[in-house]
Amino acid sequence: MDSLGLFILLILVFFHWTAASSPEEITWSYTGLIGQSEWSEHFPDCGGPSQSPVDVITTQTKYDPSLIPVTPLGYSQHGNMPFTLHNNGHTVLIELPEWMGVEGLPWLFTATQLHLHWGNGGPGYGGSEHTINGLSADAELHVVHYNSELYANMSAAMTQRYGLAVLGILIVVGEETNPAFNHILNYLSRIRHSDQKVFIPAFDVQALLPKDLGRYYRYNGSLTTPPCYQSVIWTVFHERVQISKAQLLKLETILYSSKAEEPDRMLLQDNYRVTQRLNHRIVFCSFTAEAGKELTSGEVTAIVIGVMCGCVGLAVIVRFIVKTIRFFKLLHVETAVVNSSTSSWDVLHNNRPAPMPRTKEPEKEKEKKQTMALKATSDLERKDEPSLSCKTEP
Ligand SMILES: *[C@@H]1O[C@H](CO)[C@@H](O)[C@H](O)[C@H]1NC(C)=O
Ligand SMILES: *[C@@H]1O[C@H](CO)[C@@H](O)[C@H](O)[C@H]1NC(C)=O
Repeated sequence: MDSLGLFILLILVFFHWTAASSPEEITWSYTGLIGQSEWSEHFPDCGGPSQSPVDVITTQTKYDPSLIPVTPLGYSQHGNMPFTLHNNGHTVLIELPEWMGVEGLPWLFTATQLHLHWGNGGPGYGGSEHTINGLSADAELHVVHYNSELYANMSAAMTQRYGLAVLGILIVVGEETNPAFNHILNYLSRIRHSDQKVFIPAFDVQALLPKDLGRYYRYNGSLTTPPCYQSVIWTVFHERVQISKAQLLKLETILYSSKAEEPDRMLLQDNYRVTQRLNHRIVFCSFTAEAGKELTSGEVTAIVIGVMCGCVGLAVIVRFIVKTIRFFKLLHVETAVVNSSTSSWDVLHNNRPAPMPRTKEPEKEKEKKQTMALKATSDLERKDEPSLSCKTEP
């Protein structure tokens, strides 16, 4: 009886706790009690049909020539006001000034914040949210904007259709340090714990983006964190941005998802959501495999040399063929002489008397002279051939 009473009490406590928690208060995470697979129980949209991120299968994307380059507005005009860098327990984010925005989408969008997603094992162990043909990048930057033509502010826009536009930038480890990312990474040690904020010097946000903003994937999706509203027009750039291994390790090992006052420190790692089903959605691309591919100077040189070699080779081959034809015609003529009888073929096709017998030496000399004479003319081979047939004339 006692255990039953305790059980009922526990149930009541549990329901009270559930009822008391509004969606904002629920502490979700990537793994653990309310991990990714439990999100939809507390945030219904997370179980919706148009969720993000997705795996972009390049052979199944559809080229849309109307997708013009995305143009950041005011990203470089950061002004003198410092930015706020914030560890919110799920990511590190910077609140962006409202004069920053993005053009090239069906509406004008105003920037609100940028944040990052990463893994835990260094380069090659995943960390990005979007994947390309099943392959993860090491991290991913998201620049979040709201539709300021249709909606008054971020909170009004985020639940609505076409409310948000997020730029997704895949980050991979390369040889060199990316100085733009140090504007963020250098200050992570000041916001190690969840809920901590710090002012940092403003910097050129556009320097975080890839150079090629013309080639990207576009699809309709959602926020990749609860409440997973399906209001996002996604732009995932084809070009990846590089940071050094040391920079990636900094991002992966400095921050905690736990608050300063919490006794158990939890590293903020693997804050990426697994890819979601496309469910009949189409991922469009602004480019085709061939078109718009810029050639490096090395490639151009290779092509020029290749074409030149090809032309020379072709000239040699043509010359060889012409000489061969000439040789066989000569052979044919000489065979006819040896036979000393005019075949019907000869009469019909050459329409001329049987060739006169002659020696080989003068023939060669004659040919030499003709070749020399014709060398100056542009189409040497063409004129040479009819002249050959004339040689047998008496
Ligand atoms: C956002 O806009 C809505 C609708 O105009 C308004 O009711 C709300 O107070 C605004 N919220 C903020 C935080 O400004
Ligand atoms: C997004 O959804 C709308 C409405 O269904 C559709 O018209 C539009 O083409 C979609 N855009 C993309 C990029 O899939």
